[in-house]
Amino acid sequence: MPEQPNPYTPGAGDRPRAFVGRDQQLALAETIRTQLEAGYSANCLLFIGLRGVGKTVLLKEIRDRFAANEWLAVYVQIRPSISVQRAFADVAIRSAEHLKSGSRLRRSLKKMAEQGGGLQVMGQGLSIGGTSVADSYTDLRDVLRTLCMAAQKDGKGVALIVDELQSLKSKLLSELVHLVFELRDDLPLAFIGGGLTYLPAKISRATTSTERLRYEPTDFLSAGDARRAVSEPASERNVSWEKAAIDEVVRLAEGYPYFLQLYAFETWEVARRRGTFSKITTKDVASAIPEVERQLNVGLYGSRFDKLGPLQREYVFAMASLMTANPSKPRERVRSSDIAQALGKTPQDCSPVREGLIQSGLIHSPAHGDLEFSVPGFLAYVDGRREDK
Ligand SMILES: Nc1ncnc2c1ncn2[C@@H]1O[C@H](COP(=O)(O)OP(=O)(O)OP(=O)(O)O)[C@@H](O)[C@H]1O
Ligand SMILES: [Mg+2]
Repeated sequence: MPEQPNPYTPGAGDRPRAFVGRDQQLALAETIRTQLEAGYSANCLLFIGLRGVGKTVLLKEIRDRFAANEWLAVYVQIRPSISVQRAFADVAIRSAEHLKSGSRLRRSLKKMAEQGGGLQVMGQGLSIGGTSVADSYTDLRDVLRTLCMAAQKDGKGVALIVDELQSLKSKLLSELVHLVFELRDDLPLAFIGGGLTYLPAKISRATTSTERLRYEPTDFLSAGDARRAVSEPASERNVSWEKAAIDEVVRLAEGYPYFLQLYAFETWEVARRRGTFSKITTKDVASAIPEVERQLNVGLYGSRFDKLGPLQREYVFAMASLMTANPSKPRERVRSSDIAQALGKTPQDCSPVREGLIQSGLIHSPAHGDLEFSVPGFLAYVDGRREDK
């Protein structure tokens, strides 16, 4: 029996075999690269979207495209355990080998790595000085300046690609934005980031003069793109989907990239259990649904719900009951003032709970004063948990 490796990639940051629906975002990144190579200024580009829409895979694709054009392209993800500069240093040093041999950029990077402590952020020097280093980007600025100057002589640049920007502390966010603004005045530094939908508000609170950053939404996929995300990885393996089977997956996933991968992955597993297969049918999709639901209940939905504290649970239950007050016509969004009222509290009393839920990416505010759940299907899940109570 020929091997039929499953070509679908449900997960966090797992690169899809067919990367679809992001032409506009990729073109913007390309514009920035060519502007900087021509010696023009280029704006910063920040991709904004809900959890699971594909910000990380987009940023990784952009990193690869810059790297393929001989840029030093460094992707870092904000995490509490590691500073941006440390992460940058680690990745940058490893990238040296991939740069064109003989380029100034490569020589400059290697020299810095050898010097280590000279430029604190590179090599082991970062630990010198202890915690204060993590509170400031002075070293990162110096290193970026040196690398950008080398890259400029090669006619290339440096791309700093930062994911999960919203989780950076306000002070560091403001410092990072300022250092980028300072350097990109006359150097080829591309700054491209990703974050949840409240990132623009957080940036504008954290720092002034950033209204002109370029925010670009990363949305759900159109039905046509969703079809390609499902059909193309299968065709690569000489497997085709029945038209009705794809239609069903596209309908179930509602354009949400993570769901598309999950439904397609589980459907493929069902088909594989039949033995050798070259066609995926609607029956396979139907048989995959219980496993998809199980995965969602323990993973995407359950793991998030179980992390909620008692007040947060109370809040999401109140939100869900307002949404389903008319069961034949559930509402997608509700007023936060109505939730507070339902809980017998003032909106101010609820504010810390609401903010915590927004920061976790579980709910978001699509318009001032309105709230909705950020992940498709979460309302039905919360509703189910409410009945268990
Ligand atoms: N353009 C795309 N085409 C096909 N599949 C995609 C696309 N973008 C993302 N996916 C799939 O969707 C899932 C989520 O992608 P990713 O982890 O990049 O989302 P995210 O926005 O970074 O989520 P989070 O906010 O939780 O970090 C992955 O399974 C990935 O393979
Ligand atoms: Mg991500």
